Amino acid sequence: MKKDLGPMPAVCPMPVLIVSAYDGDGRINLMNAAWGMICQTDKIALFIDEDHKTTQNILLSKAFTVGLADRKSIVPADYVGMASGNKVSDKYARTGFHAVRSEHVNAPIIDELPVTMECELAEVVKTDSMYAIVGRIVNVCAEEGIIGDDGKIDISKTDLLMFDQFRWSYNVLGDRAGKACSVGKALM
Ligand SMILES: Cc1cc2nc3c(=O)[nH]c(=O)nc-3n(C[C@H](O)[C@H](O)[C@H](O)COP(=O)(O)O)c2cc1C
Repeated sequence: MKKDLGPMPAVCPMPVLIVSAYDGDGRINLMNAAWGMICQTDKIALFIDEDHKTTQNILLSKAFTVGLADRKSIVPADYVGMASGNKVSDKYARTGFHAVRSEHVNAPIIDELPVTMECELAEVVKTDSMYAIVGRIVNVCAEEGIIGDDGKIDISKTDLLMFDQFRWSYNVLGDRAGKACSVGKALM
């Protein structure tokens, strides 16, 4: 038996993306974004409001980074989703995060986040139903400790957060259930 719940954003899981960019004076601002997704193998689309401080910084600096938040960063990750750099001048300082300048793009990398995509602004898409910032991923950097022997990121070595938009909560990514483009072969 299924029950109708009415219209709602029902994609699950959503990521917990920490988007960071410099303002015109080189100051760091960052925000939490759950509505973001890979849209080409080397591109990420962020559905973020035009008036966010981070968005304005990206339009100015033409670059940003997208870090994946994990359990140990849950408090600052949530904080940057509530406070706006438009109102709080020391938003970045309050997080306790440490940042270094990316060697690939004009944007800061948050040291505490285990995986970061370094992006150049590629496109701004504005329609009646969306405002999207599209970034070209020019590099991904990851903590050595979460890279497997095969050279790939091993998410089982992380406590990456996911955002549950049904209950507005953060969960930690769970167990591996099967290999993609493999388990389905049973029906081919
Ligand atoms: C879990 C979570 C997810 C969020 N996802 C988005 C999002 O996808 N797009 C967006 O525009 N705002 C999103 N927000 C809200 C922004 O992070 C928030 O408005 C923030 O204050 C913007 O900061 P800024 O003005 O300093 O850039 C989210 C907030 C939380 C807590």
